[in-house]
Amino acid sequence: MEAIFKRRSVRKFQDKPISEEQIKQIVKAAMAAPSAGGARHWHFVVLKDKNLKATIAKRYPNIAPLATAPAGILICADTKLEVYPGFWPLDCAAATQNALLAATELGLGSVWCAVYPDQQKMNGIKDLLGLPESVQPFSIIPLGYPAEHVEPEDRFDPERIHYDKW
Ligand SMILES: Cc1cc2nc3c(=O)[nH]c(=O)nc-3n(C[C@H](O)[C@H](O)[C@H](O)COP(=O)(O)O)c2cc1C
Repeated sequence: MEAIFKRRSVRKFQDKPISEEQIKQIVKAAMAAPSAGGARHWHFVVLKDKNLKATIAKRYPNIAPLATAPAGILICADTKLEVYPGFWPLDCAAATQNALLAATELGLGSVWCAVYPDQQKMNGIKDLLGLPESVQPFSIIPLGYPAEHVEPEDRFDPERIHYDKW
């Protein structure tokens, strides 16, 4: 509950590396997510190369936070392994949220940067990272020690809750 309510999008990062262990923990949390039919068809591309991160950040303004992040993770799905066709983006979304929460718990900043559903962006990322044909990119999560503090927000709204009937 602490990580859920503390998590905010962080888009500026300190020039300080994060460890392999931290990356592993975050990927492990992502892999613990639910998936339709238990397909678990996700793959994770860890982005560490400075030039590659800068290229992605420059080409796609919505992924600009990757420029200052010491690492990033591309979450993607191998659609060949789908159990229920069409569910892969939902599975990747669940994995993305788990990764964001794990990063928060580890004291790291993170932000969900969309690749899916922009087909042009998906093709561009696919080419850049050499993803196989059946693998679809979903989100990129820049990761690092925060260089900005984003205050938690109480977003609870009882008016959005309906009991038994709208
Ligand atoms: C599906 C989805 C796509 C998003 N895409 C981007 C994005 O491409 N770039 C970005 O900087 N933030 C992106 N965000 C982060 C949202 O802007 C952010 O979650 C929202 O403004 C609420 O702020 P918070 O994350 O601090 O609670 C995305 C969030 C979601 C759930």
